[in-house]
Amino acid sequence: MIKRFACEAPPAWPYPSEVTIAITAAGLSDVSSLLASADALIRTDAGVFDARTTNLAWATGGGPAYCAALVAGGDDFALLARDEDEVIGHLVGRRHGPNKLHPITTAELESIHVYPAHRGRGVGGLLVSSFLERVAGADRVTVSAYAQNTRALSFYARRGFVVRSVILDLDL
Ligand SMILES: CC(C)(COP(=O)(O)OP(=O)(O)OC[C@H]1O[C@@H](n2cnc3c(N)ncnc32)[C@H](O)[C@@H]1OP(=O)(O)O)[C@@H](O)C(=O)NCCC(=O)NCCS
Repeated sequence: MIKRFACEAPPAWPYPSEVTIAITAAGLSDVSSLLASADALIRTDAGVFDARTTNLAWATGGGPAYCAALVAGGDDFALLARDEDEVIGHLVGRRHGPNKLHPITTAELESIHVYPAHRGRGVGGLLVSSFLERVAGADRVTVSAYAQNTRALSFYARRGFVVRSVILDLDL
């Protein structure tokens, strides 16, 4: 378990310095919490920025199997952020490669979500740091985001991510 203090600058921060955020790998008993956070992410991200093509019933369809696969161990995994006993966010990561065209190992940050009441207090940053520790040895970390999700884009940019490719959609 990785446990860190969330308050790096207590004097300027409205949270007591003893507040701790724990980041752990999601296990079998965490499937429902992971599913809830993933569902909340869909509602706030794809459900808003790509509503036409997003299945808001995902959590009761493919969601449980998706989450169960992530807690099984291996290259694909989920991290949960907790404040005391409350799950306040998650991150899903995967490892890809190397392959013949791209002979490198890529760690994909597939999704990250922090519940609104807990945003802006460093939880997302802690999830990303824990993810980077977990995928140490990878040659590249990649993440995709909706162009309209400016908060997420600036969150990634401030952590060193640069735009290397862009997906263009043509709705028919
Ligand atoms: C994007 C998201 C995960 C960020 O999570 P978060 O917990 O708010 O992230 P943090 O608190 O670590 O950082 C956000 C801001 O809070 C501020 N902050 C964080 N910790 C701080 C601290 N200790 N002291 C002062 N300011 C702090 C920073 O200004 C930071 O700004 P930056 O992102 O420009 O660096 C969250 O906004 C979210 O869940 N959004 C909805 C889902 C989503 O868009 N996911 C991404 C899809 S691609």
